[in-house]
Amino acid sequence: MKHILVTGGAGFIGSNLTQTLLLTGKYKVTCIDNFDDFYPAAQKNWNIKDFHQNPHFSLVHGDIRNPEDLNKIQGVDTIIHLAAKAGVRPSIESPDLYLDVNINGTRILLDYARENDIKQFLFASSSSVYGVNENVPWIEEDPLLPISPYAASKVAGEMLGHVYSHLYGIRFIALRFFTVYGPGQRPDLAIHKFFRAIANEQPIPVYGDGTTSRDYTFVDDTVKGIAAALDYTRSDFEIINLGNHRTITLANLIEAVEDTCGKKAIIDRHAEQPGDVSQTYAEISKAQEYLGYDPSTSLEEGLDVFYNWFKEFYSANA
Ligand SMILES: NC(=O)c1ccc[n+]([C@@H]2O[C@H](COP(=O)([O-])OP(=O)(O)OC[C@H]3O[C@@H](n4cnc5c(N)ncnc54)[C@H](O)[C@@H]3O)[C@@H](O)[C@H]2O)c1
Repeated sequence: MKHILVTGGAGFIGSNLTQTLLLTGKYKVTCIDNFDDFYPAAQKNWNIKDFHQNPHFSLVHGDIRNPEDLNKIQGVDTIIHLAAKAGVRPSIESPDLYLDVNINGTRILLDYARENDIKQFLFASSSSVYGVNENVPWIEEDPLLPISPYAASKVAGEMLGHVYSHLYGIRFIALRFFTVYGPGQRPDLAIHKFFRAIANEQPIPVYGDGTTSRDYTFVDDTVKGIAAALDYTRSDFEIINLGNHRTITLANLIEAVEDTCGKKAIIDRHAEQPGDVSQTYAEISKAQEYLGYDPSTSLEEGLDVFYNWFKEFYSANA
């Protein structure tokens, strides 16, 4: 049985990934998570509540920046590194913290991989690295023009991966996620925020005129791409977009959310936010060819699944 270390495993994508890996019966999964206070620990505990009875699951409550915490975990074959300070806007307020966790934390984890002879390392990168590059859809070779400390920290993480791959023979695959949504989604992200506001009959803060667009990807599709990268061996360093290859305007997203919950939103318009890019749109042929990646969940289906999770979570955690 392969032993996978998932950093940030109690978070949104990490817990969905852990669930999928455990269900295969092929993997022993250890999650390390410090239950960072960016959003309530209650949601993270809820994300992983069903895993504790699985004998192939273990949780280390610890920080990736602390080698002592990492050294509690032994016998790892592959690292899937998702732990990060996420979110573009707060990274502008606290660049030190974002750069420390996302860059220094990644470096410490790469050193742990080197010291423990772990040869496969998957890294959660982000579409935000393309920044204000207007040439869409974005392909992996495109110029990177990040416009937030968060985005810059992801570029740095990718480059550190190149260094460690070159110096120490660690296969490093950076997967660039594009606005992921689904059960367990972070409460700061648009879809979750919109459902919460509509449910509570509160106004939805809308930044800009509604024409900004995002390539929303359902978390099961992202997770399938990550799981496929576990077996990727054709090169020692690779960068791969995991988007949906469909971009949706903010105005259309709000309509789709209204349709899902059968209620109208109250719109509260604000100016565009510094750090926010106007569009994201992934070219995904590389992921299709290298990982057999095939994002197949429509926005309507994905929103339905999210809404079911949302009702269950908030009725249990009122
Ligand atoms: N959700 C998206 O749309 C999206 C898009 C692009 C990239 N990403 C990246 O994917 C990864 C997962 O994102 P998510 O949306 O699941 O976020 P999340 O915040 O739900 O998950 C991250 C987890 O990392 C943990 N963490 C933070 N700092 C840590 C530390 N120092 N040590 C140990 N654990 C720590 C947090 O407690 C959290 O549970 C992140 O690297 C994020 O930057 C996410």
